[in-house]
Amino acid sequence: MVVVRQGPEHDQAATKPQRDGTSPPQSDGLNSNHNGALRNVSQSIVALQDVQLTLTSRAGPVEILRDVNLDVEPGQSLAVVGPSGSGKTSLLMVVAGLERATSGGVEVAGHDLTSLGEDELALMRGAEIGIVFQSFHLVPTMTALENVALPLEFAGATNAFSIARELLHEVGLAPRVDHFPAQLSGGEQQRVAIARALSRSPKLILADEPTGNLDGKTGRQIIDLLFGLQRRRQATLVLVTHDAALAGACERTIRMADGRIERAAELVA
Ligand SMILES: Nc1ncnc2c1ncn2[C@@H]1O[C@H](COP(=O)(O)OP(=O)(O)OP(=O)(O)O)[C@@H](O)[C@H]1O
Ligand SMILES: [Mg+2]
Repeated sequence: MVVVRQGPEHDQAATKPQRDGTSPPQSDGLNSNHNGALRNVSQSIVALQDVQLTLTSRAGPVEILRDVNLDVEPGQSLAVVGPSGSGKTSLLMVVAGLERATSGGVEVAGHDLTSLGEDELALMRGAEIGIVFQSFHLVPTMTALENVALPLEFAGATNAFSIARELLHEVGLAPRVDHFPAQLSGGEQQRVAIARALSRSPKLILADEPTGNLDGKTGRQIIDLLFGLQRRRQATLVLVTHDAALAGACERTIRMADGRIERAAELVA
């Protein structure tokens, strides 16, 4: 079935090669109104209200997300579980502003994503969100160091390479900084991808099956690393996983089924 997205912005957004590499002002959880005064926005770092995501296909509209309501508190770790096709990745895409909700409220780190244009969304993403995917999306012609430095350079950091070096050290890759992705193991590539996602100290880390391409032992190392970084940086982690043990390591779990969050199934550790 061929399916096309509703709305002109979608394809542009979804195919952006650098999802976390743009430059922006840091938000402090407060927004300026038109008079320049500050107002408090939602305390939640993620607040989704009655979110619907509908795509159109030749066969008609396809409801991908339905009546999704979700609040995630700052610093929380949240696992998103559910069967294949239940909407987990789509949920992350909406939170990341890579996918526009068809209707409903989407607030992330104090930004009302529904009111932002594509450029503003990209700036917000670069400043507030670190995204870790199942496949690593590293630039093959750049070394580990250059891959991690890239978003910092986009953001205008003068010390991009020294920060990138420290981050690679933090993920245990100091001896591999000058290696190209093809010269790194899967686990090492994922560590580079995590270092890159965290390079701008995002408040929110979105991870979509970050261990899906790794063997069990390497996967556990990656998870320990991710949780360790999340705690040290007091970031919020939203983690999509098929692994029940991994979900159990999060403070809270939501289960998705057929585009909805199954409220009754929510677990808080
Ligand atoms: N670009 C797209 N065009 C059309 N339909 C899509 C698109 N992306 C996802 N879908 C559909 O939306 C539904 C949810 O997909 P999604 O990728 O969010 O599922 P998921 O829970 O992440 O699954 P998995 O565990 O297999 O990764 C699926 O039925 C899928 O076919
Ligand atoms: Mg998925």
